[in-house]
Amino acid sequence: MPARPVLYVIACGGRPAAELPSFVERLLGDGWTVCAVATPAATRFVDAARLSELTGLPVRSDYKRPEEPDVLPPADAFAVVPATFNTVNKWAHGISDTLVLGLLNEAVGQGRPIVAAPWPNAALARHPVFPRSVAELRAWGVTVLLDTDRLPNPDSDEPSGATFPWTDLRDHLRSLRARLTEG
Ligand SMILES: Cc1cc2nc3c(=O)[nH]c(=O)nc-3n(C[C@H](O)[C@H](O)[C@H](O)COP(=O)(O)O)c2cc1C
Repeated sequence: MPARPVLYVIACGGRPAAELPSFVERLLGDGWTVCAVATPAATRFVDAARLSELTGLPVRSDYKRPEEPDVLPPADAFAVVPATFNTVNKWAHGISDTLVLGLLNEAVGQGRPIVAAPWPNAALARHPVFPRSVAELRAWGVTVLLDTDRLPNPDSDEPSGATFPWTDLRDHLRSLRARLTEG
């Protein structure tokens, strides 16, 4: 394993995606090579130009054409930041209709380490399918960081108490990088 393993930071279409540049800066400082990939919905939230400037790589959001070469190095690990209600549920059912889902489904099949931080609002988190999807992902070995007491309120743009788990994500990824690079 190289000293700077490759982490695919996968953005879905939720507000925390707008904060990815500062998180990616920290991950680069922690010793990762970072590739940013976004769902089509996430392209409305992420600053792709800034992420590309930071990582030195293009931000991909769609499947490439068959004749095009891969522009990103192969992934050693994945972080889904944030994981939307939509993508969590589609992923748990093996749907691959975005590049992000295709990459995540392959990663499950390859047994790659994946950490996901789902960020539905509190109402969506209580939808009957959502806990089942999270349980399915966990059964496959995906690390799901989810505190249902700290999710946004659907009736307010700025809910009190909603806290995206940036620190837990970074701590998890630091430990993962240490495991990947040791020996
Ligand atoms: C302003 C705005 C904020 C949104 N925030 C979230 C969010 O935090 N979490 C979520 O699960 N969906 C959120 N959505 C809905 C998703 O963007 C929508 O379900 C989209 O289809 C997700 O696509 P994706 O899973 O492919 O990224 C938001 C939508 C808008 C317009």
